[in-house]
Amino acid sequence: YNVAVVLAGGTGQRMGLEIPKQLVKIAGKPIMQHTLQVFQSAPQIDEIIVAMTPGFTADAEAIVAAAGCTKVSRVIEGGATRTETTMRAIEAVGATAPEANVLFHDAVRPFIDHRVIEDCVTALERYEAVDVAIPSADTIIKVDDYGGTVIKDVPRRDLLRRGQTPQCFRLSTIREAYELALADPDFTGGKVTATDDCSVVLRYLPDVPIVVVPGSEQNMKVTHPVDVFLADKLFQLSSQAPPPSPEDDGDYESRLSGKTVVVFG
Ligand code: CTP
Repeated sequence: YNVAVVLAGGTGQRMGLEIPKQLVKIAGKPIMQHTLQVFQSAPQIDEIIVAMTPGFTADAEAIVAAAGCTKVSRVIEGGATRTETTMRAIEAVGATAPEANVLFHDAVRPFIDHRVIEDCVTALERYEAVDVAIPSADTIIKVDDYGGTVIKDVPRRDLLRRGQTPQCFRLSTIREAYELALADPDFTGGKVTATDDCSVVLRYLPDVPIVVVPGSEQNMKVTHPVDVFLADKLFQLSSQAPPPSPEDDGDYESRLSGKTVVVFG
């Protein structure tokens, strides 16, 4: 039983808008609606739980209804941090499906595709923890802890990956990792911070292998204002481009037939 948790509890500070970035429209629909539709149409996914920014759950429910996402069982409120949102989602899944596999996906990665979801679910048949990542085109440098102005290390690029989502786990595994984390004063005191869930499993359950499934370049995280522009262009180029939705302003079709060619990379 595979539950997708769509993490939409953030406020999008780096985007700098009045509304959370997952509500920004791309190709005529809110970003999180595109994301939800991919999981709704993925045959491996049995249930979807949405964790939404407090104060915006009504918006999420309207989007779920507009998208016809019948697999969404609940819209819950997210927490103050991504980690808190994850922990709330673990509780929500555990309440009804304690034996489930859980796939945590950023609502702001609308280009997730069925191949990646299928590979994750297949990997979960053998492994308890699965990450999705791609090679890094950029050299990644490690800097000092005092402002980041001096290089401390240049790790081998061929051993580095850029982590994406979904991050997928047997529920019992991620639950146990967070239970151990919550018993660690360094974690609860903020000395150890986690920006993702695999790092919590790696730290607290070091004997559990976390297998890496190849992600895709398109599976970008809409983070900065320029990403809205890039995502819009990607939808134009994507063969998976959805037909214009009723609430579309019509601009989408004209953009689709436009002659702009964008070359990435
Ligand atoms: N997220 C969440 N709950 C939080 C913070 C983040 O569910 N308290 C989700 C976001 O909604 C997003 C995903 O985690 O889909 C990735 O996080 P990020 O891109 O950092 O989103 P924000 O926290 O909204 O952005 P920023 O860091 O710029 O404020």
